[in-house]
Amino acid sequence: MLTINKNPNPTIFIIFGGTGDLAKRKIFPALYNLFLEKWLPENFAIIGTSSTELSEKQYKEDLLNAINNFSRTGKAKKEDWADFSSHIGFQIADLNEASTFKPFANLIEKYKNEWKLNPSIIYYCAVAPHFFCTIAENISKSNLENNPETTRIIIEKPFGRDLESAKDLNQKLLTIFNEKQIYRIDHYLGKEVVQNIMAFRFANSIMEPLWNRNHIEHVQISVSEQLGVELRGNYFDNAGILRDMIQNHLLQLLCIIAMEPPINFEADEVRDKKVDVLKAMRKILPSKVEEIAVRGQYSSGWIEGKKVPGYREEKNVDPKSNTETYAALKLYVDNWRWQGVPFYLRTGKRLFKSASSISIQFREVPHNMFNNDQGNILKKNRLTINIQPDMGISFQLQSKIPGLEMNLNTVDMVFDYAGKTKSDSPEAYETLLLDAITGDQTLFMRADQVEEAWELIMPILNYWQKNTVPDFPNYSADSWGPENAEALIAKDGFHWFNAPKDSK
Ligand code: BG6
Repeated sequence: MLTINKNPNPTIFIIFGGTGDLAKRKIFPALYNLFLEKWLPENFAIIGTSSTELSEKQYKEDLLNAINNFSRTGKAKKEDWADFSSHIGFQIADLNEASTFKPFANLIEKYKNEWKLNPSIIYYCAVAPHFFCTIAENISKSNLENNPETTRIIIEKPFGRDLESAKDLNQKLLTIFNEKQIYRIDHYLGKEVVQNIMAFRFANSIMEPLWNRNHIEHVQISVSEQLGVELRGNYFDNAGILRDMIQNHLLQLLCIIAMEPPINFEADEVRDKKVDVLKAMRKILPSKVEEIAVRGQYSSGWIEGKKVPGYREEKNVDPKSNTETYAALKLYVDNWRWQGVPFYLRTGKRLFKSASSISIQFREVPHNMFNNDQGNILKKNRLTINIQPDMGISFQLQSKIPGLEMNLNTVDMVFDYAGKTKSDSPEAYETLLLDAITGDQTLFMRADQVEEAWELIMPILNYWQKNTVPDFPNYSADSWGPENAEALIAKDGFHWFNAPKDSK
């Protein structure tokens, strides 16, 4: 989240998992687009690593394919690719074997001599979580560069699989790196509209007086996906959606909506304010789990004319699996600002539509002076923040229908990113990688944020693990989730705001 146009230090990226899916779909396309838009320093090198031997030529060919398939800017031009790829190298390494890390020291030395400058080193752990710690330990054992000012390590999610393992991972990483060197990714924080929420809240004076329990009735945070678990059955069946999406992405969105205004835009100040929200969340008692949390698992169905399998039929998923692919929660933030305002969170796979949005529902007017008999039933004001695929912010208001009668209508004031499409805006990974290069941790998770988020959801995780569900699967692919998720919110007199299938 650059606030000024910084000129980044020369940088060496060492990407563990350099041939993996994440590297190909997200990391390399992001680096390539940063390069195209001249955000990368003049001197930079990217060394991809993997445990299987690959010639540099083959590696670059694979990466070019990946960029052509996944970059938001489309196929790479020949000259651009030639220039960019001249900065890429490949080094075989066995992540479990410190001795295989030695060549990285030589490579770092080589670039230092060539550039005659002291570069930043970014170790990127784009690998399965059980390797995070091993990589850090092997960097240390093989005495690879670890200058607290210029060396950083990026850790992908999931960060732990429960509170205990997250604490353990934090502890181990912190014996090798200090907190200022550790960049824990939550890619939702890098999304364009998510970054705009802070601007919207804190750069407009009309928002703050309304942003509290006096005016806001309830908040909905919804991330629905049309895709199933795809090829990640192995991982997902051991995780479930509560770990995969709510512990990180949805709770981070909640923090940005609920946080107090930071004093400045410094990373720790912003993160302090977010962690305060997590500390204020109402504790979930095991006896209340059934009341505030709903889980679901998809059965087969039809999506856009194609038959899709149920979760238990997916590859690498236990046919008797009890893993949830949908979750909806009702949470409270117990502080002065939010006392009594419910925050409803829901997320699921194989739902009717892929859409991520936040809705802030305001209270109704205290008195309706308009004539109800003529159908002037006032709708409450609602602020909708559309994160994806549509990007925009809209405000639902009441307005007079032009004419001789005083009839009202509901209208939207819309800010829709002025015709910008997804491919015009930087991808979350571009923002986050540039931040890592420039040493800005604002959009990365601090150790205490991760731990507080785990602490909050542990009672639900434990309860769900102990109490299996007799009625799984309980929602069909292409629906909006299980029926009891409707009940969760309907009990309070509200309903989920579902995006229409054909919204732009
Ligand atoms: C990842 C989850 O963190 O986020 C995936 O592991 C999920 O299961 C993905 O599909 C969603 O991200 P996005 O950016 O596509 O909304």
